[in-house]
Amino acid sequence: MAQLWGGRFTGETDRTAYEFNASIRFDRRLFHQDIQGSIAHVTMLAGQGILGEEERDSIVRGLTEIREAVDAGTMEIDESCEDIHSFVEAALIERIGEAGKKMHTGRSRNDQVALDMRLYTRQHVTETDTLLKELLRVILAAMEENTETYMPGFTHLQKAQPTTLAHHYGAYFEMFKRDRQRMADIYDRMNYCPLGAGALAGTTYPLDREYTAQLLDFTGPSMNSMDSVSDRDYLIEYLAALSTIMMHLSRFCEEIIIWNSNEYQFVEIDDAYSTGSSIMPQKKNPDIAELVRGKTGRVYGALTALLTTMKGIPLAYNKDMQEDKELSFDAMDTVRDCLTLFTGMLRTMKFRKERMAASAMNGFTNATDAADYLVGKGVPFRDAHGIIGRLVLYCVEKDTSIDRLSLEELQKISDKFEEDIYEAVSLKTCVEKRLTLGAPGPEAMKKVIEDHKKYLQN
Ligand code: ARG
Repeated sequence: MAQLWGGRFTGETDRTAYEFNASIRFDRRLFHQDIQGSIAHVTMLAGQGILGEEERDSIVRGLTEIREAVDAGTMEIDESCEDIHSFVEAALIERIGEAGKKMHTGRSRNDQVALDMRLYTRQHVTETDTLLKELLRVILAAMEENTETYMPGFTHLQKAQPTTLAHHYGAYFEMFKRDRQRMADIYDRMNYCPLGAGALAGTTYPLDREYTAQLLDFTGPSMNSMDSVSDRDYLIEYLAALSTIMMHLSRFCEEIIIWNSNEYQFVEIDDAYSTGSSIMPQKKNPDIAELVRGKTGRVYGALTALLTTMKGIPLAYNKDMQEDKELSFDAMDTVRDCLTLFTGMLRTMKFRKERMAASAMNGFTNATDAADYLVGKGVPFRDAHGIIGRLVLYCVEKDTSIDRLSLEELQKISDKFEEDIYEAVSLKTCVEKRLTLGAPGPEAMKKVIEDHKKYLQN
C-alpha cells in the first residue's frame, strides 16, 4: 500500500516499524465518523469556492457509496492501509478518480483524527447517559415498591440504625444522577469542532469553520488551532467520569455480593446473572457482580494511562496521542457492558424481605432511638448515651435485645423507662420517625421519590 506521505521518502519503512506505527487495526472504528467529517469538509470547501460543485457531488457520492458498501459487507476495510483516513482516501480515489485527490485540501490528518475521535466520543457520552437513565428507572421502580422494606443500615459494615431498601437504593440514585450530570457537562465542554485547524497552524485557504461546525452539530469551531489538534482533555474528563461510574457500580456490586452471601441472604440474584461451580454442585455464584467490580480496574487504568501519555507532550500534535484510542475504546466498551448487565441483574434480583427486617431488628440498631427516648423523658443526651451503653452490655451478656427485656429489667438500669419504651424502639417507629429531608421515613422518602419521577420524565 502506497503511503499518503510517500513523496519525501526514498527508503522503505521497516516492516515491524510500519506495523508498530499503523493504527487501522483499531481506528477502523472511526470509519463512519471519518466519512461524516469528510462530507462536511468538502461541503464547506465547495461553499467557499475551493472545490467545484461537481467535484463536491462526486466526492460526497463516492464517500456515501463506500460507506454503504462497507456497511453491507460488499467492501472490506483494507488493513494494509496505515490508518482509517488513508483507507477512505485511497478507496475514494480508486472509485471516483482525480476529484478524490482534492478531498484533503485544507485539512491534515491531525485535525481530521481530532474530529473523528471527538465525534465518536460525543456519541458515546450520549449512549452512556441513556444507559444511566435506564439504570435510574430500575432503581426508582424498586424505591417506589420498598419504602417500608426494612433493613439494617451500616457503618464500618457493623449494623448502625435501621433504614429501608428504598432509602438505600436512593443513595445510588443520587450517585448515578450525578454521573448523568457529568455526561451533560462533558458534552457541552467538548462540543467544539477542531476541523480547520490543519496540522497545527490553520490553513491559507479561506475555510468557513463556523459552517463546518454547524454541519456536524457542534456548538461552534474551536478557537486555537494548536489546542485543537492536541487537546485530549475531553477524553480524560470522560474517562474520569467513566471511572466514577465504575466506582459506583463496583460499590453497589460489593453490597450485592455481601447481600447474596450465605450469611446474609438478603437477596437472590436471578439465575440469568449467576453461574455455578464445576466441582461444588450447591454453588450459585454472583459472577456478574464480581466481574463488574473487577473491571473497574481496567477503566481506572485507561484514565491513568492517558493522563500519563499526555503529561510530557509538547505542542502540538505528536504521535503519542494515537495511544488515546485503544484504551478509550476498551473503557467505553467495558462501561457500556457493565451498565447494561448490572441494570439487568438489578431488575431481576429478588429480596428476602423477612430476613432483611429480622436482621434490622437485631444488632441494637434501635440503640440510638432508645437513647432519644430517654432524652424525651428529660435525660441529657450524653447521660442517655451512657445508660443505653450499659443496657446494650447487659443484653450482650444475656444474649438478648433491648425490646425483649422486661420493664423491671429496664427500670433497674433507669427509672425513666415506662411501658411506651417498646413502641419507641420498635423497628417501625425507628424508621417512621426519621422524617428529616433525605432520611428513610416513608413520608420523607415519598417526597424524594416524587422529585425523582419528575426528573426522569425530562
Ligand atoms: N493515527 C493517527 C492518530 O491517531 C492519525 C494522525 C496522524 N498524524 C500524523 N501527523 N502522523 O493520531
